Amino acid sequence: MDDITRDVVVIGAGAAGLTAANDLRTAGLSVAVLEARDRVGGRLWTDTVEGAMLELGGQWVSPDQQALIDTVADLGLSTYSRYREGDSVYVGPDGEAKRFTGEMFPVAPETEKVIDEITARLDAMVAEIDPDEPWAHPSAAEWDKISWDAWLRQQTDDDEAVRNLAFATGSAMLTKPTHTFSLLQSLLMAASAGSYSHLVDADFILDKRVAGGLQQVPELLAERLGDDVLLNQPVRRIVWGGDSAASGRSGDSVTGRRVDDLRDLTARVEAAASSSAGVTVIADGVTVRARFAILALAPVLYSRISFEPPLPRLQHQMHQHISMGFVIKVHAVYDRPFWREQGLSGTAFSPYELCHEAYDNTNLGDERGTLVGFVSDQNADDLFRLSAEERKERILESLSRYYGPEAKSPVVYYESDWGTEEWTRGAYAASFDLGGLHRYGADLREPVGPIHLACSDMAGAGYQHVDGAIRQGHRAAQEILERTRG
Ligand code: FDA
Repeated sequence: MDDITRDVVVIGAGAAGLTAANDLRTAGLSVAVLEARDRVGGRLWTDTVEGAMLELGGQWVSPDQQALIDTVADLGLSTYSRYREGDSVYVGPDGEAKRFTGEMFPVAPETEKVIDEITARLDAMVAEIDPDEPWAHPSAAEWDKISWDAWLRQQTDDDEAVRNLAFATGSAMLTKPTHTFSLLQSLLMAASAGSYSHLVDADFILDKRVAGGLQQVPELLAERLGDDVLLNQPVRRIVWGGDSAASGRSGDSVTGRRVDDLRDLTARVEAAASSSAGVTVIADGVTVRARFAILALAPVLYSRISFEPPLPRLQHQMHQHISMGFVIKVHAVYDRPFWREQGLSGTAFSPYELCHEAYDNTNLGDERGTLVGFVSDQNADDLFRLSAEERKERILESLSRYYGPEAKSPVVYYESDWGTEEWTRGAYAASFDLGGLHRYGADLREPVGPIHLACSDMAGAGYQHVDGAIRQGHRAAQEILERTRG
């Protein structure tokens, strides 16, 4: 077991952790990044499956994601636009595929009117919200008490309008059933992208991809850190209180003591933060002693780590109100992009279909054609009760309703299932349950003693996206730099 000392130890080599580590290194601090997996990138994973390069995790960049755009430019990477020429496809409640161009999809004029009116209402509400502190809005408590689905159904009894409006932050973003999260959580999701209208505009939100794959971002960031990124190092324990951390005596645990004995917690937290060795982080093959730590992983995974002393009451409670959404990202590669021959852009969606949305995801310069489709929340749960063959058949059947029978015969087929990934446990990211955002949101990013926090799942701008992860990485590094200067 190696024993090393650094100014800051970063736990998690995703976009957030690697951004923070680079900022700290640039400012002259020594760092070590401990990563549980045998690769960097976390939810960014560009892999080759049966000869096809696939983006198994995050991939798209939208024009408002300035932190990601700056990082991509700094690393010398280039981007290209998603293919979008031709007609899009919408499948309505009658199951019929209808082609359309422009922003509005083919629904009855009354439904279109309702969708337009509610969209305008939502845009006005979102404009009043600061994505970095949605809980500060005067109506935050009220908006956090009602589910997204219930609020929409209070606005109209047009079911098709509700399903389509709900979809943008439900299946397509938070990837949870729309009765399980609040209107406020939905408004945060929209505010993080600038407006509700942005969120439903695929040409905005799914604008560009990085040539060669988005995982190059964490890979190149890690390259700059060299040997200070340690793979296969799941962190199991963090000793962070006062003397035990300062002396590095990891056996000097307070776990299990009565709550009364922890009354001096605040004092010890402050002592740890101001001491020169505030935290000892124990991974499978290395122990790192540092002045500060950054937990750069999804908050749903904090409970996998044993904290000594335990995290305070507020964190224990708060973290139980955050959970991961779940979506299956389906990749289907064909010998050619056959849908383009039919004048289709590849953009297709329906709140009535198993694959609620799908796009042309052909790689830059590739003569083969790739479709990417998404199956979300309860539909995804249900599919995983089936055999792999049945699941594939059901998914391809759904794609064929958008693109025709040829969609049933890909040459490569792959399902990204982040629910089985031990160090992620869902996709795309985590959100609060009903009422949780207003109750705990303001505390989510607050450091605990020498432990700072960074992750896309606690971002304001760029929430649940790589852009948000990078912004949170910069913020956590800045917080530590301010403390070291102070
Ligand atoms: P992330 O989870 O990436 O990193 C945390 C790291 O911590 C991981 O490497 C993990 O292994 C490690 N870790 C966890 N526990 C540990 C422990 N105990 N010890 C050591 N290490 C530990 N975004 C976007 O902008 N555009 C998009 O198109 C998409 N699409 C998309 C599709 C799919 C299928 C997914 C799953 C996600 C997306 N996203 C996305 C979301 C985006 O990928 C995500 O928000 C960020 O990559 C998250 O970066 P973080 O660094 O915050 O966490």
